[in-house]
Amino acid sequence: MSHSFAGNSGATIEDLKNQINIVDVVGRVVPLKRAGANYKGVCPFHNEKTPSFVVSEQKQIFTCFGCGASGDAIEFTKRYYNLDFTEAVEKLAKEHGIEIKIGGGGNQEREKYYEVNREAARFFYRAFTEGKNQGYSYMKKRGIEDSILKKFGIGYADDSWDSLYRYFKSKGVDEKVLLELGLISEKNGKYYDKFRNRVIFPIINTSGKVIGFGGRAIGDAMPKYLNSPENRIFQKKNNIYALNLSKQDVGKEGYAILVEGYMDVISLYQHGVRNVGASLGTALTENQARLLKRYTRNVVLSYDADTAGQNAALRGIDVLGAEDLKVKVLHVTDGKDPDEFIKKNGREAFRKLVDGALPMTDYKLNAARKGLNLDTDDGKIDYMKRAADILKSLSPVEADIYIKKLSHELKIAEGAIKLEISGNNNTGIVRQLRRRQEDNEGRKELSGMEATVLKVLMINPCFAEKLIEYDGIIESELGRKIVNLMFEFYGLRGGFEPSDITDSLDPMESQAFTDATDAVIIAGNEEQVFDECIRTWRLNKAVKREQELIDMLALADEETGSDSIKGLTEELMNVQREINSFGGRK
Ligand code: GTP
Ligand code: MN
Repeated sequence: MSHSFAGNSGATIEDLKNQINIVDVVGRVVPLKRAGANYKGVCPFHNEKTPSFVVSEQKQIFTCFGCGASGDAIEFTKRYYNLDFTEAVEKLAKEHGIEIKIGGGGNQEREKYYEVNREAARFFYRAFTEGKNQGYSYMKKRGIEDSILKKFGIGYADDSWDSLYRYFKSKGVDEKVLLELGLISEKNGKYYDKFRNRVIFPIINTSGKVIGFGGRAIGDAMPKYLNSPENRIFQKKNNIYALNLSKQDVGKEGYAILVEGYMDVISLYQHGVRNVGASLGTALTENQARLLKRYTRNVVLSYDADTAGQNAALRGIDVLGAEDLKVKVLHVTDGKDPDEFIKKNGREAFRKLVDGALPMTDYKLNAARKGLNLDTDDGKIDYMKRAADILKSLSPVEADIYIKKLSHELKIAEGAIKLEISGNNNTGIVRQLRRRQEDNEGRKELSGMEATVLKVLMINPCFAEKLIEYDGIIESELGRKIVNLMFEFYGLRGGFEPSDITDSLDPMESQAFTDATDAVIIAGNEEQVFDECIRTWRLNKAVKREQELIDMLALADEETGSDSIKGLTEELMNVQREINSFGGRK
């Protein structure tokens, strides 16, 4: 992979880092005092009186033992001036008279993949529109008009096994790219088209990039739908099918209709219901909810009428609800899915279904009522329990409305229902409180990794020096307190005794510390053990960051031309390089 900051004439980011000194960068805004090999100051990232902010000139990093902030000069600039990665690099480069070229590299790499997908979409589209083919006949049989087929860019993958491959080969496109995009596969050194004799639905993100494909079998071939595999430009969980076409209508109508299938989207769209999208055949995700939230706060779920569809709706409610979207659930009364319904009954009938869609709480209550006989006491009691569970997560005002409804329906006093809701101490509020408590308790304990690192420090205080660089490895409140103590003693007299530490902790903390470190047995070389801890911690951190960046990039795509894509891509490549340098994921 090329370095995206490396222009033809400009300096690379490594050059930049080599030419600047973090002590100058930080010293400009934070008064620093020399302390041995390092510099110390009052941390600009949290409130403190005694300095616990350390800058290492040798390692070119800063770290704060108080709040855990740490990083290099770019990270400092990002945080201090509230800039993104690219902006921070530009600022530093400018201040140091370094010409740096930003752009290219990773971004161009992604552009290449988009371009190949676009070309494939054109290829499929030509096969679909030029001359007789089974794909076109199939879509006509399903009643889709030419204008709609064109609007969605519907295509056809023929059954020749290698026409797409040969096409790209003639254009000099690398097999590696085609393989990653899932357009071809390889067997015994030969390449085959992945999509054969299928109707092709290009999946286009909201910035108009072709990110993948869905291919529907013609007839009964299996699987019914074949989708592009996940790859660097396609993550199902970050996209909503057809939102590129419907986002304006979603805004105009003030709500989005979410369906399960490609065909549902196309069919509704053809009938004039245009504020529609599909979740690409998977359970709705948090990122999809966030994506929707850019365009509306209101969602109508219109899933298939079967049990699977209804269960998916129940799960969808929770995912969307967690992002504060207001959800209603529409139930098709005729046909198995929205496509069948609107074909038979037309647009107005579908609109009526939308108007009658159930608010999510009513929908959940209905589902809870299923299979219970409310004429019996047992049935009523079971329903009450389930209903209480549902109402717990509501705001007091909402809960009050439903408590009244329930009371009326079941002929049970409101007070009794309220008691049922609060009696079970699993309420939204109670749960929140409990979770907070657990978190706090958790912070009073040391993780296995923390205990190991602290044990190494106990055996050999010199490792305190090393820890400056990897300070973030100690995350818990207790751990940080202990590290701070160790560092104090180490700074004062170059070492510490276990009693120095335990005497400075309160009895509970001291016990937790002793228990945790006693449980650790350091077999062999402390340096190796320490390095292994660092390695694992950095790898975990990098893998976590990688996923965050992939998600952020998928969403950043929505704002074309945004500088942040470059910064994110650059960081992603760095993180991936780092992961590889650790020998890859475990
Ligand atoms: P038609 O049966 O042609 O009307 O398609 P549909 O769009 O109504 O699809 P269906 O309701 O059967 O499934 C909903 C969605 O789930 C589809 O649009 C696909 O995204 C996905 N899906 C369905 N079948 C498969 C499959 O076999 N494999 C994969 N990967 N996805 C599928
Ligand atoms: Mn269908």
